[in-house]
Amino acid sequence: MEIRKQTSLRGEIAVPGDKSISHRAVMFGSLAEGTTKITHFLKGADCLSTISCFRKMGIDITEQEDEILVHGKGLHGLCAPEGILDVGNSGTTTRLISGILAGQNFVSELNGDASIQTRPMKRIMMPLQSMGADIVSIRDNGCAPLKISGHPLHAVHYNSPVASAQVKSCVLLAGMYADGVTSVTEPVLSRNHTEIMLNHFGANVSSQGTTASIEPEPVLEGREIRVPGDISSAAYFLAAGLLTPGSEILLKNVGINPTRDGILRVCRDMGADLTLLNVSREGEPTADILVRTSRLHGTTVGGEIIPALIDELPMIAVMAAFAEGTTVIRDAAELKVKESDRIAVMTEGLRRMGADVQPTDDGMIIHGGKPLHGAVIDSCLDHRVAMSFAVAGTLCEGIMDIRGAECVNISYPAFYSDLYSLGEK
Ligand code: S3P
Repeated sequence: MEIRKQTSLRGEIAVPGDKSISHRAVMFGSLAEGTTKITHFLKGADCLSTISCFRKMGIDITEQEDEILVHGKGLHGLCAPEGILDVGNSGTTTRLISGILAGQNFVSELNGDASIQTRPMKRIMMPLQSMGADIVSIRDNGCAPLKISGHPLHAVHYNSPVASAQVKSCVLLAGMYADGVTSVTEPVLSRNHTEIMLNHFGANVSSQGTTASIEPEPVLEGREIRVPGDISSAAYFLAAGLLTPGSEILLKNVGINPTRDGILRVCRDMGADLTLLNVSREGEPTADILVRTSRLHGTTVGGEIIPALIDELPMIAVMAAFAEGTTVIRDAAELKVKESDRIAVMTEGLRRMGADVQPTDDGMIIHGGKPLHGAVIDSCLDHRVAMSFAVAGTLCEGIMDIRGAECVNISYPAFYSDLYSLGEK
């Protein structure tokens, strides 16, 4: 994919549905009694992997133009899958579904693509094993493929060493099949979509500070879920709108849950002109975001904000390279275990563009404002890397040639056409 410089970006974008919320709507709908209707569902490859796993376990899921219907069978209604559950590239599918599978009365095996087979699964195996679960890494390397022999579980209080919504959600979901109240404490609060949505389905999940607790054996009931636009997808247009001269973009109906809105806070710290319109605070909060070209300067990104923008750090690194002054990203070692090692891959790509970037153990130091140019970039099949460099390509001279650019299908299949829809015709 070759990307060229754009001169001004104007118009409206309705970014696709939130990936985290789309996954959860299918999972919890499958475990609910009755039908769950999901609108603005993200039809990206990751969420389609979740659908295919639940179909394999006997759940009838129908896809229509604008909605997905999940005909749930209750907490104990899944049946043993024939063959392996294919999670594709999706860490969320792998880790959340493992919590559910640990409490079933059947054996299952999970596997996915080359990237998923390198991602750490000990972080969910350990708490699940402490609940009495039988979960093994088939190659004994702490990664997928995983084999899970389900049976009833013990309630635990788990102190998670990482702020990870996938770990927290995995343990809470297993807690539905436990013999008492299960709770998880994390070092910093991570995204809380599981807690919000499980309560909406009728479970009893309480949250206090960084601890979430769930009562066992909830009766979940089918619900209507309207998935907000994904702030992680909106991030690319925030950056493009802020940095392209003469731009004004309206991003419609974007989720602004405070556990996800770190990108808005960092953009403002960098000097961004952002206005929230039509703010709604019911359930998952949403807003339209008006973005206008701004002069950006460097900042420090670290500490408690990191989980609230973890997926936006590749885009923030690119923004920092175009901003004046130095940006320090720290406390973000988790970047190394995402779909790619995002510290290494972003450093390599930005240096190819002429940027001054130093990788650190837990982030990057970027001295912005150097003249940047197009380059050949290997996305390493990481959707967020591909989209971040595509935005970079609309901002600099020369051609940006992104290898493996089609991986945007994971979370934003229409990304390139949306990006070009805003440019001068
Ligand atoms: C997600 C949680 C985050 C995030 C991922 C989606 C989720 O991962 O990076 O894209 O839906 O719970 P971690 O829990 O590993 O931080």
